[in-house]
Amino acid sequence: MTMSLLATVTTQQKLGVAIAAIFIVGWVGYLVAHLRKAGPPPGSEIELAPNRKPYYDDDTLETKKLDRSLGTAVVLLSVVAIGLPAYWVREGQRQVDAQLGFEHRSIHRGSILFLPTDAPGHGAKFGCATCHGAQGQGGVTKATITDTLGRTRQVQWKAPAINNVAYRYSKDSIRAILVYGRAGTPMPAWGTKGGGPMNDQQIDDLVNYLSAPVEEKGLKVSEEQTKKEIAVLVATEAKRIGSLNADGTPNVTGEVLFGANCSRCHTRGWSFNEPEVNAGGRYGPSLRGGATLRQFPQQADMVKFVSVGVEYGQPYGVGGIGQTAGGGMPHFGTLLSEEEILKIVTYERSL
Ligand code: HEC
Ligand code: HEC
Repeated sequence: MTMSLLATVTTQQKLGVAIAAIFIVGWVGYLVAHLRKAGPPPGSEIELAPNRKPYYDDDTLETKKLDRSLGTAVVLLSVVAIGLPAYWVREGQRQVDAQLGFEHRSIHRGSILFLPTDAPGHGAKFGCATCHGAQGQGGVTKATITDTLGRTRQVQWKAPAINNVAYRYSKDSIRAILVYGRAGTPMPAWGTKGGGPMNDQQIDDLVNYLSAPVEEKGLKVSEEQTKKEIAVLVATEAKRIGSLNADGTPNVTGEVLFGANCSRCHTRGWSFNEPEVNAGGRYGPSLRGGATLRQFPQQADMVKFVSVGVEYGQPYGVGGIGQTAGGGMPHFGTLLSEEEILKIVTYERSL
């Protein structure tokens, strides 16, 4: 009987019993030791209680004790008086740094969204670089277009440089371009509102990436660099229409400047090397047949318009109104000189 009972007791149970036994023995030992120790005789607390001991006399209280208390108060007060302002001195910068850190992280996330979809590394990528170039310097992409007879065919569509888009559009306009894309072009809608795959945060991260200068790990190149890139477009356009000086250098006329800066939106087919000059406008209205003279009877008003662009819903000219919900007519005042704008305007007004 005893044997069978012992056999069913597990090691854990044996250990538990052993520990309990040690506790009980220890506790009993403590009790015995404590009870045997003689405490102070009853009644002695009347003399010994702290509140019954005599306190400092008046002399000590009014000199040493008072000075010490006041001294401590001064020290504590100066800790607060110096410490609080010292804390606030750093607080402004701390907030600036926190804000900067926030922006840097946003720009960084945008730079990842921008990468080709098959780029290595973590995080979702949406392939902006595949069409617009690794540094946003512009590129080409395949597109299928339908001609007037309903036949479809493939063309090479030029994707514009977007390393300078922040010089031409406000942040809100850039956001709208990304959310809704450009219908009828290879540029898809990216925001959920436009039917695309990106949430608001991702769109904001991309807007920040496009708007931040290269030195801050953004995409925006310097104005100087942008002007160089425009000069390349101008030279290409001059060659295309044969506007060359006797020595072969580009002859930069209003027509050439128009082709390099405006045609992709105002001339149908320009983006895939088949400009249909008389077919009307495309994304922006046709500027031919005296349209600009009617919209801007005064040349100076037109120069100003090209320089500042127009926001959605804003009136311009005689009866114009910004039709495009974000990312309509850009402002060119930053990238083109007044002289260049004047050349373009003079050319347009002759059409
Ligand atoms: C399939 C190719 C393609 C992809 C991918 C693409 N784009 Fe575009 N994007 C274009 C084309 C083409 C245009 C010019 C449309 C036109 O002709 O009006 C454009 C226009 C733009 C514009 C307006 C520029 C201007 O001045 O008119 C911005 C900004 C832009 N894209 C940003 C982006 C961003 C950011 C991404 C990635 C989320 C992206 N694009 C992905 C092809 C593409
Ligand atoms: C990214 C596309 C785009 C580019 C590039 C562009 N425009 Fe426009 N433009 C528009 C749109 C869109 C409108 C119509 C107004 C609106 O909805 O914002 C417009 C309107 C205009 C108008 C008013 C026309 C009217 O009759 O109402 C003029 C003039 C004009 N653009 C001149 C220019 C010039 C000059 C350039 C080049 C320096 C240029 N645009 C480049 C998109 C563009």
